Amino acid sequence: MKISNYNLLLAISTLLSGVVIFASLWHQYQKVEQVSRIHYQSRLLVQTIEHVFTMSQLWLTTQDLLFSGRQTYLAKGINEQSAQLRQTLMSVKGKLVNKDGNDLVLKLIVATEQNDVIVNLFSQVSRQKNTYWQARIADSDQITTMYVSNLEQLSAQVMRDNHFWSEQAKRAKSNFTKLSFLVVSLYLGFILCTVSFFSKYIVKPIENITALALQRTSAGASVEFIQTRAATEIIDLSIAIQQFTQHITIEKQRAEQERCNVIRANDKANIIMDTIPCSVLLVDEQGLIKECNIETEKLLLRDKAHIIDKPVANFVPALATLDGQFDKDIALKNMEESLLAPGFENPHIEFTGRKIVIMGAINYLITLNDINERKHSQKALSSLNEQLIQAEKLASIGQLSAGIAHEINNPVGYIRSNLDVLNDYFKPLLAYIALTNVDLTKNSANKKAAQELYQREDLDFILEDIEPLIASTLEGAARVSKIITDLGNYAHIDEKLPEAIAIDELIEKSLTLVANELKYKVEISKDLAANVNVIGFPQKLLQVFINILVNASHAIETKGCICISSHVVQQEINVRFEDDGAGISQENLKNIFDPFFTTKPVGKGTGLGLHIVRSIIEDHHGRIEVSSKVGQGSKFDIFLPIHYDELAANKLSVKQLIS
Ligand SMILES: Nc1ncnc2c1ncn2[C@@H]1O[C@H](COP(=O)(O)OP(=O)(O)OP(=O)(O)O)[C@@H](O)[C@H]1O
Ligand SMILES: [Mg+2]
Repeated sequence: MKISNYNLLLAISTLLSGVVIFASLWHQYQKVEQVSRIHYQSRLLVQTIEHVFTMSQLWLTTQDLLFSGRQTYLAKGINEQSAQLRQTLMSVKGKLVNKDGNDLVLKLIVATEQNDVIVNLFSQVSRQKNTYWQARIADSDQITTMYVSNLEQLSAQVMRDNHFWSEQAKRAKSNFTKLSFLVVSLYLGFILCTVSFFSKYIVKPIENITALALQRTSAGASVEFIQTRAATEIIDLSIAIQQFTQHITIEKQRAEQERCNVIRANDKANIIMDTIPCSVLLVDEQGLIKECNIETEKLLLRDKAHIIDKPVANFVPALATLDGQFDKDIALKNMEESLLAPGFENPHIEFTGRKIVIMGAINYLITLNDINERKHSQKALSSLNEQLIQAEKLASIGQLSAGIAHEINNPVGYIRSNLDVLNDYFKPLLAYIALTNVDLTKNSANKKAAQELYQREDLDFILEDIEPLIASTLEGAARVSKIITDLGNYAHIDEKLPEAIAIDELIEKSLTLVANELKYKVEISKDLAANVNVIGFPQKLLQVFINILVNASHAIETKGCICISSHVVQQEINVRFEDDGAGISQENLKNIFDPFFTTKPVGKGTGLGLHIVRSIIEDHHGRIEVSSKVGQGSKFDIFLPIHYDELAANKLSVKQLIS
């Protein structure tokens, strides 16, 4: 049965039983009240009748006295007593319910009235012993005897009524008590039934469910919650709890499974993180480090506890903006070289960042690579490269030295011969000056001798020839000086700092140094129109040009031409060397920049020339392109950036720009 139905039933039955109980009790109570009132009135009536008896006794005694003739004045008193008796009897008459009683009362009243008439007769005359009066006395006696008899009957009737109502009152009270007892018993029984129902079908099953729930909570075992002997709602509740616990069990198993998966995934992630051979940091949007791996601990030389929740910029200053905030744009750069904060012995790192969303929150996965070893090897490599470039340069100087020596010998030769001629010119000139130093007007013989000497030694020619001879000598000396200066500059190791280079002048210098190499078979055609400077290392670029010119010269077997041009193309200088030599096969074209690639016989070429050319050009942030056809010649295009705009726009120093 449902508790709600039971409650409805309980409410209706309580209401109905309450109404019935109240109505019956009320009815019984009214009955008891009524009977008790009647009984009370009957008791009063008994007392009144007793009072009537007493009064009647007095009345009869007084009458006897009167009739005995002693005091006639008593008649008045008797009349008064009879009046009182009548009054009392009249009051009794109103209270009597049955007709017989009322008749008796009327008879008594009438008797008193009849007796009063006789008594009044006696009041006017003194006591006489005659028959008339004797007859009156006899009448009176008859009346009073009747009176007494009626009174006794009345009394008996009243006593009977009183007894009857007394019994009625007792019975009514007893019935009321019984009914009350019955009602209370029924009520208690009803409560008992209710309590037992509640206890059996509601409280007990609830206690069972509670105990089962506790048992399940403490032991964690699976428990059967379903109650069969219980109110419908409790049965439904127990089924619902059963289903709920089953659901919870399934959910718990699933949650446990998920927890295990998360732990496994976490472990896996940690293992992966710790196995990654570079430092990995997980950084939140504010730039605080939220996770890191073992490599990070090694790189930053501290344990995880001293890394987590610290701003990443504390360790990598490049990841902070000028006002100290986390710079997300920089963090997302790809393989950005940077430095750790001051204090780290090996500060060179390279970082890469990726934006990742974890549970709706933006994070940054930053990897830091320790590039200190690479930096050291780069340094070592760059120093080796420098040495290689220098060695190659010295080798090329060695190669050029014969030609340069020849280039120097040539002017030195004609300087010498010029000086010989000048020396020859010097003797007749001295003799002529000696003759002309005396006063020729006083010594005419000297004058004549001087004229003869002038004619004989052809001093006109000598004086004319001296100037070009000196000029040629000076020019030869200048040439020697230039070659030696250029060679000296070329041999000299570059300054560490880059400088502005007039590229056209540098091409001219290279031509000076390879002049001897070229002059017998190569015709040079120049179109040097760049007329701007590039930033770089002049000796190295000179080495580039010399190598290309020498290669071109080697490619020309007997006679040929090398066209050299320089132009500004957009933001670059394009220097072109075009020869009409042997050309390069397509197969070799792929390899000519490889180190040690040469087509020349052993001992003639090292195969490093073009490799170094490309390396130098790339150091200058430029590029070299080649095109060639076998039998037609080769074309080398060098492109070098012009940095002036950048210098001006960024206010950079030349050093900053090149680096
Ligand atoms: N202008 C050119 N015409 C034809 N072949 C060329 C020219 N320049 C370079 N080469 C080819 O490229 C090769 C590599 O040149 P590279 O300057 O690197 O070495 P190399 O000249 O052989 O030796 P070296 O180290 O003495 O310069 C040459 O052996 C040659 O075959
Ligand atoms: Mg070469």
